[in-house]
Amino acid sequence: MSKIKVEGFFQDIGGAGRVTKLRREKHKDASDIPNPKDPIRELADRLHPGEIELRVADIRNASPTAKTFRFEPVDGHLPVFQPGQYASFRLNIGNSVLTRPYSISSAPYEARGEHPYFEITVRCNRPYFVPSWLFENVKVGDVLKGSLPFGNFYYEPLRDTKNLVALAGGSGIAPFHSMAKEIAYGKMKGCNLTVLYGSMKSDDIILQQELKIIEKDCPDVKVVHVLSDDEAWNGEKGFLSGNLIRKYSGEDSTYFFCGPLPMAQLMEKELQSLGVPKRRFRCDVLNNPANVTALPGYPKEHEGKTYKITVRRGIEADTITASSSESVAVALERAEIPVDTHCRNGECGYCRGQLLTGEIFVSPIGDGRRQMDKEMGWFHPCASWPLSDLEIKIPIL
Ligand code: FES
Repeated sequence: MSKIKVEGFFQDIGGAGRVTKLRREKHKDASDIPNPKDPIRELADRLHPGEIELRVADIRNASPTAKTFRFEPVDGHLPVFQPGQYASFRLNIGNSVLTRPYSISSAPYEARGEHPYFEITVRCNRPYFVPSWLFENVKVGDVLKGSLPFGNFYYEPLRDTKNLVALAGGSGIAPFHSMAKEIAYGKMKGCNLTVLYGSMKSDDIILQQELKIIEKDCPDVKVVHVLSDDEAWNGEKGFLSGNLIRKYSGEDSTYFFCGPLPMAQLMEKELQSLGVPKRRFRCDVLNNPANVTALPGYPKEHEGKTYKITVRRGIEADTITASSSESVAVALERAEIPVDTHCRNGECGYCRGQLLTGEIFVSPIGDGRRQMDKEMGWFHPCASWPLSDLEIKIPIL
């Protein structure tokens, strides 16, 4: 290979001329037939594939109401992920294509072995439509489409302290199970993890046996169950509170929360009252949100209303109906209009549309829009609810 000699600052100003000369010489002997192979692109595609085919390898109970689904990549390769990140599934249900995010409950090292896989743990808490569909329809051997990893809910050594306290509710235990497994495997060097896991009854505890085994084998992982509605329980009772958090926290801890919105709001308050700085609190709210009227600032007079949405895609226009209690993304999916989503809480910026006329309520939790986006009427359908008839423009998929 020809080398370009750097001859000093002033001599090198003419460097471009020398490069051009060398390029011309190389082109003289080059083939006329273009070579579409690009090894760098091939490597990048392999490390960060867009959508992957995922075969269901196993389904097992994680509690009386939750199941763990194991997925193996059909092409044998899984991208690298961090404990706490999520996978996004594209599901063909009826005539609709729905995308749903699920936290990965297995550890990253399990995706790097000879037979790579990852797992999600889902609770079937009706009336949620997609978990019920997964429970009733997905079988071992089925192939689903998905992509991963997404999300910034993970331990970052440059930002977080080594004492990690996980505050979990319901299926919010999934990302912490992934972290606990990774620590027990010897990764996340120097970290210790205390999991405070709130449930109603002992039957509601998800991944209970798995957590017990990790805790027994790894002195750096401690799990404290807190039950609110179980008289026979011998451990901590009541709800996760500032007192319990103080009791089980190490010096200068970093707090991670994953669970439903009302619990997130309570945890934020409790941590504030303990004097925990905002930068030490990371929050991942599940099911954005089951009840929009619970979000701070929601104008309650819109509860129970139905509106019309005119949806423009290119030159096409459809008019659909939408309940004020469903996000614009859910209304589109229900009307079988494709909308691509990942996080479904307004954070990732993946779904977007333009509001041409009408009024929407935007979730104040995770509103990732910039000022300019707001001024130009851009919004995220996954985290916006109609407050009037709307006219919107969305990309054609
Ligand atoms: S899916 Fe992430 S912003 Fe809508």
